[in-house]
Amino acid sequence: MSEPIKLVAFCGSLRKASFNRLALTAFVERLPAGVTAQTIEIDWPLYNADIQAQGFPAPVQAAQKAMLEADGVVLVSPEYNYGPSGVLKNAIDWLSRMTPQPFAAKPIAIFGAAGGALGSARAQYQLRQILVFLDGRPVNKPEVMIAQAQNRFTDGKLTDETAGKLLADLGASLALAVRQARAAANVK
Ligand SMILES: Cc1cc2nc3c(=O)[nH]c(=O)nc-3n(C[C@H](O)[C@H](O)[C@H](O)COP(=O)(O)O)c2cc1C
Repeated sequence: MSEPIKLVAFCGSLRKASFNRLALTAFVERLPAGVTAQTIEIDWPLYNADIQAQGFPAPVQAAQKAMLEADGVVLVSPEYNYGPSGVLKNAIDWLSRMTPQPFAAKPIAIFGAAGGALGSARAQYQLRQILVFLDGRPVNKPEVMIAQAQNRFTDGKLTDETAGKLLADLGASLALAVRQARAAANVK
């Protein structure tokens, strides 16, 4: 039996009935055995260096601690005007100012749901670009872009089988990346 894997997840939509939140629930339900995820709420103040100078807000500190203790990260975002939501970007901006910077060297899964035909693809590629600077390790495949999200969920549940299978595969891919990172860390 391999060691358990702990993930920390962030959802970029604050909307109660958010399709992205529902997709995150579907992702967590499909994680391989031994993999667990904690979702962190990111209704945080807007990044302001003056606030930072007084001390990082408590929820930001708690999120950094959870990330440092976790093996991997999950970023879920809607697409707003061809980019990730401001809510998620704001959380990333806060966390990026912390030491240790908690995205560094972390295996990361990215996915999203959006109303348009590209299913948040543009937002996801911007997130990948942001993670270059933060030295994160996003898994490349599968890409999970849930298009026309309004047609993929019924009564609060993901009903699109293709999306469900892709989310399961992404969870397995993230778990594999974590195990590979552990193995690499043991090689002297
Ligand atoms: C400010 C704003 C900008 C949006 N821009 C896009 C967009 O660029 N591409 C797209 O596919 N959908 C866009 N949408 C539609 C969202 O993808 C859709 O509302 C989605 O359901 C939001 O995610 P949620 O259900 O998790 O809250 C936009 C919605 C808002 C509110």
